Amino acid sequence: MNPFQSVKEEVRRAADIVDLIGQYVKLRKVGRNHVGLCPFHAEKAPSFTVSPERQTFHCFGCKKGGDIFAFWMEYHGATFPEALRDLAERYNVSIPETFSSDEERKRAAQREALFKINESAALYFEKSLMHSGMGKSARDYLAGRSITPETMAEFRLGYAPDQWEGLTAALRKRGVELEKAELAGLIIRRDTGGYYDRFRGRIVFPIFDLRNRVVGFGGRVLDDSVPKYLNTPETPIFRKGETLYGLHASHKAIRKKQRAVMVEGYMDCLALRNHGLEEVVATLGTALTERHIRKLKGYASEVVVVFDSDEAGIGAMLKSLPLFLNEGVSARAAILPDGHDPDSFVNTEGLDSFLELLAHAPLMFDLYLEQRLRPGDSDPEVKIRVLREIIPILSQLRGDSQRLMYGHRIAERMGVRDEVVWSELRAFRKKSSTAAVGRHLKERVETASGGKRFDDLHLLNLLVHYPEVAPKLMDIEWQMLVSDPSVVEIFGAFFKEYSRRGPFSPQDLLDALAGEGARQLYREVLMEEPHCLPAEVDTALLEIGQKALQKKISASIKRARERGDIEGLNQLLKLKAQGTTTIS
Ligand code: GTP
Ligand code: MN
Repeated sequence: MNPFQSVKEEVRRAADIVDLIGQYVKLRKVGRNHVGLCPFHAEKAPSFTVSPERQTFHCFGCKKGGDIFAFWMEYHGATFPEALRDLAERYNVSIPETFSSDEERKRAAQREALFKINESAALYFEKSLMHSGMGKSARDYLAGRSITPETMAEFRLGYAPDQWEGLTAALRKRGVELEKAELAGLIIRRDTGGYYDRFRGRIVFPIFDLRNRVVGFGGRVLDDSVPKYLNTPETPIFRKGETLYGLHASHKAIRKKQRAVMVEGYMDCLALRNHGLEEVVATLGTALTERHIRKLKGYASEVVVVFDSDEAGIGAMLKSLPLFLNEGVSARAAILPDGHDPDSFVNTEGLDSFLELLAHAPLMFDLYLEQRLRPGDSDPEVKIRVLREIIPILSQLRGDSQRLMYGHRIAERMGVRDEVVWSELRAFRKKSSTAAVGRHLKERVETASGGKRFDDLHLLNLLVHYPEVAPKLMDIEWQMLVSDPSVVEIFGAFFKEYSRRGPFSPQDLLDALAGEGARQLYREVLMEEPHCLPAEVDTALLEIGQKALQKKISASIKRARERGDIEGLNQLLKLKAQGTTTIS
């Protein structure tokens, strides 16, 4: 076994997939598996399944799946070597230095270099803030905004001095390759050669990932100049559309309280923490995306979004409603009094008033209706427009009871009979049902087999749950019974592995499968309950054998017919009519 395989094996033995994934996705035990809402695609009903027995996960909706390494790579956007290193570290498995492909190594090394440069820059900014002369105005500014030294230290706030080549020079002195610092978004190349600092004369907010590594920065001016804020551009380690400021510090509190409070600004996030509200995160001034919500939904089932009471705030609220509904996350909207943002509110009114506001935050859905339909608005045009807008949202709601409840509320609010809403909903569904999503394996089995007892998938199920039948199946002409190319691939690989090493754990085969289709299918079968009880296995084998034989006879009959071999044909027909009770 090469060193890389053995590390992988060792990590696998040390880790438990339910435990690991459970730290990122809320899982619930259902039968032999654990299920939750998929962090990789929008869904309202859980089809993300984790099998402790197989140590694999699989989403029946988006088909992503695999082992702990696959999860880590997908969830953290990491390469395989990074995942291996992270998990090895986490489970105290030591790893030899060099393996993996050149390409992967390069990418991992590049990301690693960016983290390192960001860390150097963060230290430089921190030091500048603490510099007695240079950092004074910045310290005064932060004090003026009531940021405590504790919060400053916890979030590693810094200051970018008002110099063209402050950071540039500091990095150069440290021997940092400046092209890499440019890639990290920290410095900008001059047309005339050389580099200059992106952040100048700004308070700097480092942005962290869940492992407390600095992925990027935000910077605010100390006065009224523009742009007020500047952020690191997208880099290989900084993805704005999914980054939530403060999550590294708040995820434990979010899980404990089962709620996240979402605000818009760095200062809002810090001000609330300053006052002791821990479960708070901020978007980075970008529009809320479903990826933001997915990041949160592993921790809490409810998000309270704090909006300004202005037009833009309300607009943003309306836009984010379908995102939350799509993700199956309950969303409340706390609307601040006129002219306030969370920072100014908590600093003037105190935390208790803010908590009060959160406690009375209405469901975003209710607020939506209130905003869209003024009471007494009887214009049918308006009603139809709102209905058209809301039906797709309603159709996505999780569970019939929720739908009934909201549907009823819409009807009530609009002053129409419930039936009007339902018929619109039915019409909408009919139209969109052709775009079926995430068919589950069970349905697939039912359609594929047409109600027959054994087909490709049943055979696979038998093999995976009772791998000891492998030698018997190898003797039977199983090729006669399977047609799906992925299934053929799986059987071929399974038997090859079996011949090579005797009995093995079925999940080990995943690595040996070359086709993505085969791997997907195999993961699904691994998650399944066995179709038959141990006591039924022998009977099942017998049936399979007979069926294979029947198929073989039918094929021979066809060939005999084609050849015009009357005598052979007669014998074969007789054999077929006997119903054949012998297998060999
Ligand atoms: P303060 O004035 O420091 O309290 O900032 P704020 O957080 O109240 O700012 P505002 O409500 O204006 O903006 C909210 C968030 O949007 C900020 O935290 C930034 O992330 C982002 N933002 C605001 N202004 C700019 C800008 O000029 N450029 C960019 N890129 N982002 C901005
Ligand atoms: Mn503000």
